[in-house]
Amino acid sequence: MDVESSAQGRVHSALAETCSRHRQACSRTMITRLGLSLHRRLPIIVGYFSRHDAYNDASTAFWILMNPDLDALHPYPFEKLAALKAELTPPASLAHIPLTIGEPQHAPYPGALAALVAHQAEMARYPATNGLAALRETIAAWACQRFALAGLDTERQVLPVNGTREAIFAFVQAALDRSRPAKVAVPNPFYQIYEGATLLAGGEPLYLDCTADNGFRPDFSAVSADTWRDVQIVFICSPGNPTGAVTPLAEFKQLIALADEYDFIIASDECYSELYLDEATPPPGLLQACAELGRDDYRRCVVFHSLSKRSNLPGLRSGFVAGDADLIMPFKRYRTYHGCAMSLPMQHASIAAWQDENHVRANREAYREKFSAVTDVLAPVMDFPTPEASFYLWPAVPGGDDIAFTQRLFVEQHVSVLPGSLMATIDGMTTPPGGHTCSRFISSATATPAAKRPRRWTKRACPLKPTTCAKTGCQQRCWNISCIASR
Ligand SMILES: Cc1ncc(COP(=O)(O)O)c(C=O)c1O
Repeated sequence: MDVESSAQGRVHSALAETCSRHRQACSRTMITRLGLSLHRRLPIIVGYFSRHDAYNDASTAFWILMNPDLDALHPYPFEKLAALKAELTPPASLAHIPLTIGEPQHAPYPGALAALVAHQAEMARYPATNGLAALRETIAAWACQRFALAGLDTERQVLPVNGTREAIFAFVQAALDRSRPAKVAVPNPFYQIYEGATLLAGGEPLYLDCTADNGFRPDFSAVSADTWRDVQIVFICSPGNPTGAVTPLAEFKQLIALADEYDFIIASDECYSELYLDEATPPPGLLQACAELGRDDYRRCVVFHSLSKRSNLPGLRSGFVAGDADLIMPFKRYRTYHGCAMSLPMQHASIAAWQDENHVRANREAYREKFSAVTDVLAPVMDFPTPEASFYLWPAVPGGDDIAFTQRLFVEQHVSVLPGSLMATIDGMTTPPGGHTCSRFISSATATPAAKRPRRWTKRACPLKPTTCAKTGCQQRCWNISCIASR
């Protein structure tokens, strides 16, 4: 046996041993063909995988052992929606109206794009994890002005991030202590990253139902003291996706008191905070509640903000995290290893965007007009909470079956909405959200036509809102065509 083959033999037996050690403990995927072809053609890859993966016998199989928590991740709502629509054929004569993905349709802030171009040569430089001082100062000035804060330490209480999605995910990985019970409270229905981040960090989601009865906000008073003791992080989403509900200051303050009592972190996702309907009443934020309580160290509190919706820059991937330095500094350390610093041209673009409020006001104005047009069109046929903020509508589906509603709306009218039940964990819910669709009528480029088609169809095909029918006196949702005609 030559030197090379004996070395290879040692690698093989080490891998086989690793595999048998892991066999009981790990969930695994046997990728026989892939493994063998990789092994034959690229032995170096086998070496690369060998710390985490092993194969039991090079001649028969190659086992890739991945983090078993990956199996716990649910498909994204859009994947589930695609499956629901896979077998359906919509009418070719009607153009598709997609009302599903929450992507802004207004123009990105031109000042940010200009800064991006002006600083493109800085792509040649590595950025630092904590970003430019000028960016942190701009962010701090914006947040202090917007939320009436006494101050934010730009070295220790502010961190630029590549959008709130990655920051939320990464924060949970950095913050959760796996050595003790690790519940993470999330609103239900919810933005799926809260759940996925929790599962991959080895935590357990605690779903807090947001139903019409509690104003589509979590009812923290319903959580028992025993459960609170296991909670490490509470996610707030305000204004909420998908319901648009806004958390009042008093509720933030109550939650802060609970955080002190039970020693948990409050993570407030405020990425829709700048899209609100009443110009005089911006949604409050968690740090604002801290400031009103004189809690200027923002103890146990972090907020997540983004330029994606505020400045129509979802492709820029820019936001920030701010709050308690004892949370931000370890998070920064985590991010140094994770390697997610924002590129310098993006940082300059972000500075330009955070410094300008005119485009944000204009953006709100455009949404306001769309909201007004769409709610006028849909109110006669659908029930929905009066929107305060965000660009979502959360209408109750006439008839109550959100999946059937979604499929029929697609197959008959070529309109896509997202069934509410795909954005929630139904099992744990006392009142499942099935019966709502998350309809991004408002983010749609053509909001009024987008609402009119579902309205015409809903009026024709679905039970109407429960009102007293002039013709029959019927008080119920009613399929009777003569009742419908009379309204
Ligand atoms: C509730 C919520 N949080 C966070 C995000 C992520 O936004 P971004 O990463 O673009 O800042 C989204 C995006 O749609 C969202 O709906």
